[in-house]
Amino acid sequence: MTVHFIGAGPGAPDLITLRGRDLIAACPVCLYAGSLVPAALLAHCPPGARIVNTAPLSLDQIIDEIATAHAAGHDVARLHSGDLSVWSAMGEQLRRLRALDVPVQVTPGVPSFAAAAAALETELTLPGLAQSVVLTRTPGRASTMPEGETLAAFAATGATLAIHLSIHALDRVVADLLPLYGGDCPVAVVWRASWPDQRVIRATLADVQTHAQGIDRTALILVGRALAAEGFEESRLYAADYDRRYRPVGADPRFPE
Ligand SMILES: C[S@@+](CC[C@H](N)C(=O)[O-])C[C@H]1O[C@@H](n2cnc3c(N)ncnc32)[C@H](O)[C@@H]1O
Repeated sequence: MTVHFIGAGPGAPDLITLRGRDLIAACPVCLYAGSLVPAALLAHCPPGARIVNTAPLSLDQIIDEIATAHAAGHDVARLHSGDLSVWSAMGEQLRRLRALDVPVQVTPGVPSFAAAAAALETELTLPGLAQSVVLTRTPGRASTMPEGETLAAFAATGATLAIHLSIHALDRVVADLLPLYGGDCPVAVVWRASWPDQRVIRATLADVQTHAQGIDRTALILVGRALAAEGFEESRLYAADYDRRYRPVGADPRFPE
């Protein structure tokens, strides 16, 4: 018996990995985080599967469900939105399950920041402008931020910021970032990336609050110079004169064939 933690992707039901889909189809029990996991994914569950929306459950109740499946020898598909490595609450479940000696496996998913970048048709790391992406959030009711993890500290690096769980605090995000990135810095708000009703708002730090009025909950705020850049350098990787292992160039290539 194994609990399969599966990244369910950002919303479009076909943005799950083949492995994730096949695991759902093979597990007689499916627990899913109902607030964000698309219901269409549950169609992959086998006939007669026990399907439980964990949104109204406590951690104790979720672990009880898994322990019951474990006792019956039933594999469990545990679905969380996006990828499991960020803001999935997988960590606390893993800790409890390890204490109970319940075997686990983790299958990654498409994170929402990648779906948002796809909606924008944008590369978040452009040569000379930004070579880092910071996945972050602002404090919420259930989560404080560790000291030092402030938007201002991240912005001091000039990286592209992908700010999660914070659309309700857009005014604060803008106030924190304006002094560092300037009013003309591009901002994108992507609401429900990859869902059929996805919305994309492109603005600047100076005017994003006006443009994003009425947007709430499942939205990502992306901030940085890479977002609206046309005048960036091309990467050296594909330069005709760049000598590399897969395309040796010149009389004395570094990696001779
Ligand atoms: C609890 S976190 C889950 C993050 C998820 N594990 C991931 O990999 O993206 C929920 C937050 O992620 C962002 N988010 C999740 N799905 C999204 C989507 N389809 N479009 C835009 N933002 C999304 C929003 O900022 C939302 O408040």
